[in-house]
Amino acid sequence: MMGSLGGSEKMPTFFFCIMLFLTASVSSASLEVGFYKSSCPSAETIVRKAVNKAVSKNPGMAAGLIRMHFHDCFVRGCDGSVLLDSTPGNPSEKESPVNDPSLRGFEVIDEAKAEIEAQCPQTVSCADVLAFAARDSAYKVGGINYAVPSGRRDGRISLKDEPSLHLPPPFFNAKQLEENFARKGLTLDEMVTLSGAHSIGVSHCSSFSNRLYSFNATHPQDPSIEPEFARHLKTKCPPPSNTGSDPTVPLEVQTPNRLDNKYYKDLKSRKGLLTSDQTLFDSPSTVRMVKNNARYGANWGNKFAAAMVQMGAIDVLTGTQGVIRKNCRVVN
Ligand code: HEM
Ligand SMILES: *[C@@H]1O[C@H](CO)[C@@H](O)[C@H](O)[C@H]1NC(C)=O
Repeated sequence: MMGSLGGSEKMPTFFFCIMLFLTASVSSASLEVGFYKSSCPSAETIVRKAVNKAVSKNPGMAAGLIRMHFHDCFVRGCDGSVLLDSTPGNPSEKESPVNDPSLRGFEVIDEAKAEIEAQCPQTVSCADVLAFAARDSAYKVGGINYAVPSGRRDGRISLKDEPSLHLPPPFFNAKQLEENFARKGLTLDEMVTLSGAHSIGVSHCSSFSNRLYSFNATHPQDPSIEPEFARHLKTKCPPPSNTGSDPTVPLEVQTPNRLDNKYYKDLKSRKGLLTSDQTLFDSPSTVRMVKNNARYGANWGNKFAAAMVQMGAIDVLTGTQGVIRKNCRVVN
């Protein structure tokens, strides 16, 4: 008797679970490698060509596009919201101090998207073009290749105030970075692995000048910077003044245009540029990861590819959600 009573009570729970499972899988139709292979077979080739051309002219574009994908995915998921221009009265993510003036590479996305639209109108999302472009950048400047699951759809909303609510600032410590990435479903190891993107590209002096001139009440200079490196940085970054000038310096000094594991070697010699970089070597929870990445470059490259795929899946719109924009800068 007890058994059959228990069973009849369990049945509704069982069906409820099945329903939950079905609803969950419908609303998050998952991304798929080769999503456009029949609807727009040349899509990925077009993006790769546009990226190769742009990066050959200016290697900094690779850094710009990889960072742009990160800034897209952490704000409203990877929905291309970072690509939307402001409209009168509606400043977009582009106007956030997190993105303006530092984010770059928008023209590369425009060019690839225009060519794709000419061949397959309203088929390939801007969010996917950006995900492909980030991968192609990693391949072009780092030899890191991976298949990008696609089928993202584009959002319609982009708000100036949101990037700073979701993206980590450069003064975060390892604990704060861990929490920030965990909120997006990324692990501590993925956070450390993805930080290796700072092996390429540049930073404005304003993102770290506190480390050189105004660290805290007792230390004008951050004691975690190698002194010779600090001296060098001071020649590139004069004390913040009201001249409005804010020069840029490479994030990684040894091979600033090569996506590799030298970033982690820099951290070991206390030449990380941002507080958020150096903290990864100075924190007990991440120091081993930094040492491993510094030592095993190929393994870091594989982890970087896998972590980019994870990052590229954050809160994506799929199936009938969202839209396919015609022009990545405007809602249809
Ligand atoms: C871990 C937390 C992170 C923080 C605090 C951070 C912060 C920053 C800052 C402040 C800059 C310089 C902006 C400027 O002043 O011009 C920068 C540049 C950059 N970041 Fe990050 N970032 C983080 C993670 C990432 C991730 C996950 C990626 C990509 C996977 C990434 C890719 C880049 C790239 C490539 C650049 C150079 C951009 C260029 O040269 O145009 N960053 N980041
Ligand atoms: C300033 O920073 C140093 C090094 O991190 C630290 O030892 C010291 O306690 C800090 N001083 C203040 C006043 O916060």
